[in-house]
Amino acid sequence: MALFPGSALVTGAASGIGRQVAISFIQEGCSRIALLDRNAEGLEETSQLCKQIDPAAHVFKLEFDARNEKDIDLAISAAHHALGRIDYALDVADFDDVTTINYRGLWIAQRAEISHMLKQEPLATHDGRPGNRGAVVNIASNLGIVSRPETPAYNGSKAAVVSLTKTDAIDYSKHNIRVNCVCPGLVQTPMTKDLPPDDPAMFVAPMGRMAQPQEVADAVLFLCSSKATYIQGAALSVDGGYTIN
Ligand SMILES: NC(=O)c1ccc[n+]([C@@H]2O[C@H](COP(=O)([O-])OP(=O)(O)OC[C@H]3O[C@@H](n4cnc5c(N)ncnc54)[C@H](O)[C@@H]3O)[C@@H](O)[C@H]2O)c1
Repeated sequence: MALFPGSALVTGAASGIGRQVAISFIQEGCSRIALLDRNAEGLEETSQLCKQIDPAAHVFKLEFDARNEKDIDLAISAAHHALGRIDYALDVADFDDVTTINYRGLWIAQRAEISHMLKQEPLATHDGRPGNRGAVVNIASNLGIVSRPETPAYNGSKAAVVSLTKTDAIDYSKHNIRVNCVCPGLVQTPMTKDLPPDDPAMFVAPMGRMAQPQEVADAVLFLCSSKATYIQGAALSVDGGYTIN
């Protein structure tokens, strides 16, 4: 059996990390995916990229605004309706409107995804081990773990995502739903395009370079997969060693 026999839902799918996660799900054999974002053009591009890899994949795309609770609930319900179930859910959003999107929007989306996961039976797994009812992966940040100057609202919103992840991991363990987060360091996406190549932030991580979106997507897919059935409430650093000290 494939490692991803279920259905994936990706928010922030029009760009950067979310786009790469969507592409990686399709590359790794997931054949049902919902792409959500507020950027229609980017969504269409991601959808085309997915279909180029697997023309037979069921790719559902929908515009939504992560600042609007009703919009989020409607979008997640529409995605669930289109896919039949939600097994792997990735929640990301933009640097702008920091608290509203990074924290509030993510929590509302996660709550909506879990409400659907609660109603479905656990998914079969690649090697027959007992599966989970669903897996949520949130995108936090290295700045949710350690602090740096001048971005207090962003850092605070990401620390909140780490805390929310751990609390929901406790609360939904009894329902066999896993909730984890990935904490990327600097990643080469549109979000960081204005960062000068000699910016000191680039050299805090011992590895001395930015991540490619693929390197973050790899961690997201691992946490969603049935190779991570006992990983719960983790804040997995994918930061080139940024948070070692
Ligand atoms: N790039 C980095 O260096 C880095 C580092 C650590 C954490 N992160 C986190 O990773 C996540 C993704 O970042 P990225 O680098 O891929 O950024 P990106 O700008 O490439 O992608 C963000 C996506 O979110 C969408 N979005 C923004 N606001 C929205 C809204 N209100 N409703 C719906 N969609 C909305 C955008 O349209 C875009 O497609 C963010 O949560 C970011 O904080 C990024």
